[in-house]
Amino acid sequence: MADTIESFAGQDILSVDQFNRAALNAVFGVAHEMRVLVERFGGAELLQGKILANLFYEPSTRTSSSFTAAMQRLGGQVIAINNVQYSSVSKGESLPDTVRTLECYADVIVIRHPEVGAAATAAYYADKPVINAGDGIGEHPTQALLDLFTVQEELQQIDGLTVVMVGDLRYGRTVHSLTKLLLNYEVSFVFVSPEILRLPADLIEAVEASGHSCRQVQDLNSVIGEADVLYMTRVQRERFTDLAEYDRVKDFFVVDKELMARARRKMIVMHPLPRVGEISYAMDDDPRAAYFRQMRNGMYIRMALLAALLGKA
Ligand code: NCD
Repeated sequence: MADTIESFAGQDILSVDQFNRAALNAVFGVAHEMRVLVERFGGAELLQGKILANLFYEPSTRTSSSFTAAMQRLGGQVIAINNVQYSSVSKGESLPDTVRTLECYADVIVIRHPEVGAAATAAYYADKPVINAGDGIGEHPTQALLDLFTVQEELQQIDGLTVVMVGDLRYGRTVHSLTKLLLNYEVSFVFVSPEILRLPADLIEAVEASGHSCRQVQDLNSVIGEADVLYMTRVQRERFTDLAEYDRVKDFFVVDKELMARARRKMIVMHPLPRVGEISYAMDDDPRAAYFRQMRNGMYIRMALLAALLGKA
């Protein structure tokens, strides 16, 4: 386990299991400095001469553009393969060969792929650091880091909070990574989902085995008043084999002004985004709506991680 910033040099980032509290504090400290750097100077030349390859086999707006912005604000450059259908992947090139190609040109590879374990496969074949930007329903570690960083920056604490996670807890990889990361802290969990979208059993077991308080419910109204952090998610349409089933559950939960009238005054609403109806636009000017600030934090966290992996933090 890497637990100082220096010890991340040359590492892959595949799972949140690689992070303990010391590592999280170290990353958050650097991310905070990156925020100050961007606000004052727009960036720095820390990664000048370095190249990042962004390899996305699934759609992305925030993750891919924030990695690009992070690299460019640190003086580095980016090879963007956001449409693998136009790369040699469409000619049948394998993931190992694609990755071995990109590492000839780049210093770090960011990969998003529909299969669980694909980032680990890429890391197995690559000598350069690989960052998992989402492997199917598996993990999305950099999102969980930026989520937790947002909680820390917004509420100045993580221990003692009640975190209410809502929506597609079954297929949502951001929920899987964030839940595991939160086990490093003394938080209480409330998981809100329809029956068919409950958190996977192995994760529930991990939460329970670690001694954290944890409830699984189907009604958001009855628990909204307890939330310090309300973590909303989109129902992951692309993971359903039966779209009729998706239609049945897609509009289960909506955060609107009426619901928020019952929420605490000091709490935050988060969402990894994109939203497709779970949060009313009327909510956006509520000071508790943290999802746009959360999105910006993604760039600072990714700046910190890139600097750390490339030995410049
Ligand atoms: C998430 C993802 O790709 O898992 N998006 C993101 O990276 N911000 C969430 C989602 O797509 O619902």
